Order: sequence, then C-alpha cells, then structure tokens
Amino acid sequence: MIATVAGLVSLSPLQAQVIPVYLDETKPVEQRIDDALSRMTLEEKIAVIHAQSKFSSPGVKRLGFPDFWTDDGPHGVRPDVLWDEWEQAGQSNDSCVAFPALTCLAATWNPGMARLYGENLGEEALYRDKDMILGPGVNIYRTPLGGRNFEYMGEDPWLASRMVVPYIQGLQSKGVAACVKHYALNNDEEYRHQVNVVVSDRALHEIYLPAFKAAVTEAGTWGIMGAYNLYKNQHNCHNDIMLNQILKRDWQYDGVVVSDWGGCHDTDEAITNGLDMEFGSWTDGLTMGKTNAYDLYYMADAYKQRIKEGKYTTRELDDKVRRVLRLFFRTTMNRQKPFGFLCSESHYEAALRIAQEGIVLLKNEGNLLPLTSHLSPLKILVVGENAIKMMTVGGGSSSLKVQREILPLDGIRERFKDCEVDFARGYVGDTVQSYNGVTVGRSLYETRSAAELTAEAVEKARQADVIIFFGGLNKSDHQDCEGHDRQEFGLPYGQDQLIEALVKANPRLVYVNISGNAVAMPWLAKVPAVVQGWFIGSESGEALASVLSGDVNPSGKLPFTWHQNLGDCGAHALNTYPGTWREDYKIIDEEYKEGIYVGYRWTDKQKIKPLFAFGHGLSYTTFKLGKLSADKAQMTVDDRMTFTINVTNTGQLAGAETVQLYISDKVASVDRPVKELKAFQKVFLQPGESRDVTLTIGRDALSFYDEATHAWVAEPGTFEALVGTASDQLTAKCSFELK
Ligand code: BGC
Repeated sequence: MIATVAGLVSLSPLQAQVIPVYLDETKPVEQRIDDALSRMTLEEKIAVIHAQSKFSSPGVKRLGFPDFWTDDGPHGVRPDVLWDEWEQAGQSNDSCVAFPALTCLAATWNPGMARLYGENLGEEALYRDKDMILGPGVNIYRTPLGGRNFEYMGEDPWLASRMVVPYIQGLQSKGVAACVKHYALNNDEEYRHQVNVVVSDRALHEIYLPAFKAAVTEAGTWGIMGAYNLYKNQHNCHNDIMLNQILKRDWQYDGVVVSDWGGCHDTDEAITNGLDMEFGSWTDGLTMGKTNAYDLYYMADAYKQRIKEGKYTTRELDDKVRRVLRLFFRTTMNRQKPFGFLCSESHYEAALRIAQEGIVLLKNEGNLLPLTSHLSPLKILVVGENAIKMMTVGGGSSSLKVQREILPLDGIRERFKDCEVDFARGYVGDTVQSYNGVTVGRSLYETRSAAELTAEAVEKARQADVIIFFGGLNKSDHQDCEGHDRQEFGLPYGQDQLIEALVKANPRLVYVNISGNAVAMPWLAKVPAVVQGWFIGSESGEALASVLSGDVNPSGKLPFTWHQNLGDCGAHALNTYPGTWREDYKIIDEEYKEGIYVGYRWTDKQKIKPLFAFGHGLSYTTFKLGKLSADKAQMTVDDRMTFTINVTNTGQLAGAETVQLYISDKVASVDRPVKELKAFQKVFLQPGESRDVTLTIGRDALSFYDEATHAWVAEPGTFEALVGTASDQLTAKCSFELK
C-alpha cells in the first residue's frame, strides 16, 4: 500500500509496520531520501527540479510530498502574485510586517538582531505557507551606485558573514529555508544578465565569497540562489567553478542551488554545472499563457529528452532530486515546524528594535540632537518628500505590501505631540502611486514648481526652532532599485540646492538620509547633524522619531565606507565600472581591477579620507576605551588569541558601543591591506558602567588566499591588532607574533 501523509494519521499499529521508509520519521533522513528517490518516476524527478508557477514547484503528489513554495525576500514576505503572472493575486491576507532593509540590519553590528530578524520573518513566512524565503543577500558593496546595495550587508566580508549566519539560523529554526543570494559577484545591477565579472582568485575568496561560505559552512543554509551575471564566461546559475567546485566540492554544500528568476540559459550547462531548481525562465511576460510553458524550461522536457536519448544517465538528475528531497524533509515534510503568525505585535517590536539599533548618527555638532535636550515646546519643521513617502513599496522584487508603515512625518508628529510640527514638501521626487499593483497610501501628487516649493520651505524654516530634513534616495528606478544602478553619486531632485537654501535661512538643520547607499554631501560642513536612516520598514517613523528625540540612544555603525566623491572608490578610480562591451555587444566584461581593495581597504591604501569611515557611528553618550591586552605574545597556527579591552560609558545616558578589532599584517610575501576587520562586539552600558570586552581571533584572521596553492595561508611574523570604535578611530594597539 502507499500511505499518504494525510492517511498516516489513521494507520493502525499493524498497518504502521508497512510505513514506507521515506515516511518513517524514526529513520535517518538520508535513508528516507534514498527510499523516496527509488520510488520516483523519471517524470516525477524532472517535475521537482523546475517551477510550476511563478513561485512554486511541484512536490510528488503520488508519494504525499506537497508543492514547494518560495517567496521574496529578504525584508518581509512578498505579496502573492497570480499563479502564472506577475500581477497581484489580490489576496486579503498577505499584508506583512516589513523589517528593516539588510543594510540597516548590518549597521546594528549585532548578530543577535540578525537572529531576531530571521526568527520573526520565519514566523511570517510560515503563516503565509512559504517554504523558502528568497534571501538574505550578501553581495559585497563595491560601488555606491549599486542598485541593490540596500538589500545586502555592506562592504566587509567579516561583518557580512557574522550577520548572515544568525539570520539564516533564525529563519531555518522555523522550518523555513533561506536562499542566500545572489551567488556570486552580482555587485551592481547594470546589465546584470550580460556582465562577465573578471576578478582575481584572491579577491574572489577574500572579499566576495566569505559571506556565502559562512552561510553554507556555518549556518548550513538550505538554499542558495545563483546570480544572473557571468563568471569566466559562464552564467552563475550553471557555473562549473562556482557551483560544482567551490560550493559543492570545497564547501560540501548539501542544499539546493536555485536559479535566479530567468537566470538559467542552457540545458546542458544546467544539467552538468550544479543547478538544482530552475525558476522564472519564462517569466518575462512574453510567453504569457503559452501552453505548458513550464515544460519548456531548460530543465524540463529538454532534459528528459536528453536522458531518453541516452545523452545523460540519471546520475546528475538523481543528485539534484536528492537535494530537492532533502529540502522537502527540511521544510514541507517537517512535522516539527512551529506555527506561523502574521503581523503580530512581536514582529513589529522586532522590526522596531532592529531599526532603532541600525540607525546611524553620522554627525552631531553642538549636540543639536537629541531634540529633547532643547527647550520645549519646539517649533519643528519637517521638510522633504521622504518624510511622507512609503519606502516598503518599490525597489524590485523586495517590494512589499505592508499592513502598516509609519511614515517619518507621522512618527515625528506622534512623538512630539507637545511641539508645533509643520511640514513643507521641499522637493518632488517620485510620485508614482502604485508599484507591482500595491498602492502607496498617501498621494504625492504635486503641481507646484521647484522654486515655489523651496520658497515655502525656506519661509517656514525661518520661523522654526529646528528643521528635520528627510531626503536621500528612494526605491524608484535608478535609485535604490533592482535592475539598474544609480546614475549619479549626488542627491537627486535638486536636494543639494534645497539644503543649501534651508541652512542659509536656519542653520539648525538635521539631515536624515533615507537610502541604502552613500550619497555625496557637498553641504556637510554647513549642516550640524546628520543621521543615516536607511529603509527601515513598517516602524520607520517611530524608530526615527525615537532616535531623534533621544528616547533611543543611537548605536548603529556604518557597514560601508562613505566616500566624499565617487572617484574615491576603487571601482571608479580605476574606471572599471560598468565594464567594456565586447564587439558583439552581447557581453560586457567588468574587471574588478581594484582586486581586494574594496571599501576601506582601498581608502586605507590610497590614504583617502572618507566622509565617514567604515564602522563609524556616534552616540548621545561618550565611551572611553582602556588599554588593550592580549592573552599571549605569540600565537601558533592552531591557536586562538584573545584580546581584552575595557570600555566605560563616561556620559550621562545608557548606550551601546561597538568595539572593533582589525588585524594588520606587518610583513608579508604578498600585498596586504593596511588592516582588516576580524572581530567586533557590541556592548550595552549604563552611565558610568565599565566592562571588559574580549575579542578572539584564530588563524583565519591572519590568513590570505594564496593564488598559487589555492589555499589560505597564515605567514609567520609580526601582526598588529588595532582596536577602537570605528575603522578610523583605532586608538588601542598591540603587536604579536605568529610562530
Ligand atoms: C531577483 C531575485 C528575486 C527573484 C524572484 C529576481 O529578479 O533578482 O532576487 O528573488 O527575482 O522575485
């Protein structure tokens, strides 16, 4: 007999003895996989390795495996689209909580926040019956023009690694698979399907792969998504080096490789080069309604045909199916899964906490912030479109349909009830009223000219005690948005001129930058307070108001270097972006000529002073670091070494400081960065409280990737540990030897 999952419940003890192995939960999973595999027909095997709708793939009905559902990712659970079209399904139960964008999560420098993020998102996904969330993203921030940087975790491989692991563990603890994306080298969006990245092995392994490796080897991610771009002339969704060699052989990955939507281009490569599940191939709208379009997938009929013709055995197919079955047992067939909740208060609380911890106070001259330290009632003038614009909508596949999004202006009005809060639009950016069928709550329609809007804002600014300007970028095309990159480093929509006019009228201006990327700030010297407000989701307005008011003491630190000019960034200094088209205009080669010198590694080498350094972030309190000590003076390669430093909160407010440890290799046989982040810890301290922070490193912190031997090498010699509160504030030092 074939016991179905549903039927299992009513089996008598006698019948239970004939439970097939694959359904027997007392048996090891690998044995259950073998058994299931041995029962599957060729048709069933082919079916589970490709999509059947925009976001689902079939299970094996005959054996009781349910359909498998994916969904974006990574900031909340995307609203349902129609079975076979991109249009909204129009559900009334798919409004979600939007968590802060991953750049903000990285800015918390708190792995605990990443765990919280994953767990809460997992509960939302469970409620929505999603088995896999398409995220998180860990592509390295290589250029501030990168359209999807907001979905990633900054420029540093160590920071991104420490943050991605707990996100995945939290999500998967709910029985929902993570699908880490976009593997790999998808560091900008322009021509993303045609870019062939040319990068040294060293930069690949030291900069671009570590976060993926941590996701696989430490977090044990169940899914990974191939990137659209090419590496060594092969698309990353079926790239022999990336998938067969590095991911599956070297990292021993046992999960599935999912194609990015439409990222699969060739049946033979897909068969042999490590792709396991094909999604989105005919989702460009051109083949709408085409009969059996899913059978036309590269890994559908074409694959079956090749097996029937004898071109392939089922060796590759069985490996793919085995992985898919493993995924099923981890998700759809996992009976220990907890219950899901949608939009529960605990999810909003998590979103709020993460947002509050990720907001970065970049500048605070004369302690203009927090605003409650001034006489109240204040006359506050809020300026800027970003104070009234929903940011959970837009930006590409991460766009959400939220149950609520507290806008900055509303958050300020609520928090500063005792004050007079006025608003001036100031500038017009993107007034689009709906995105992917999701309507933006508030009308942004405006008929006044730029001059009229500026005049109004300036006039009101003269009457105000303080101006809070909410500007920056948004989620529309060529801003922080999938598919393209930004076209300029400067602020769009004439914001620079507006800011200049406002500070002239009233210098007490707080500039809150809403973006996932750095922007040029030519007016910085004239603006006393600057806050990086990211895209922080449902609780945006409340989180921002709590930091501006001082209810929450800011503790975020930049996960990337904030350059003064675009040319201060390696990729642009060396003119490598966006690449060079080949003669046939089909492929554009983008050579990462700066090699390992990405972000602060580049500015350190070139001795360029950034506007704000990697790891920078101020607080309303002050901290003092004591002397740095190490538990030994020499380290051997199999050893670990622990550094201790005392941190004291010397101010009047409770707050958090992030102690950062960078390693500098004094003499090496290869060129090495001036310093590299290798450990950090965030510590929360009451006023006057002091604590010893310990930071431990291993041999990996001293190693570089040797291109000749394809191995990590730690060369004996002198190293220096540099400890401080930002990459440009490393006040404590200590030398040690590697034996
Ligand atoms: C994006 C992915 C996303 C997928 C499904 C693609 O265009 O690159 O990140 O998960 O669409 O929406």
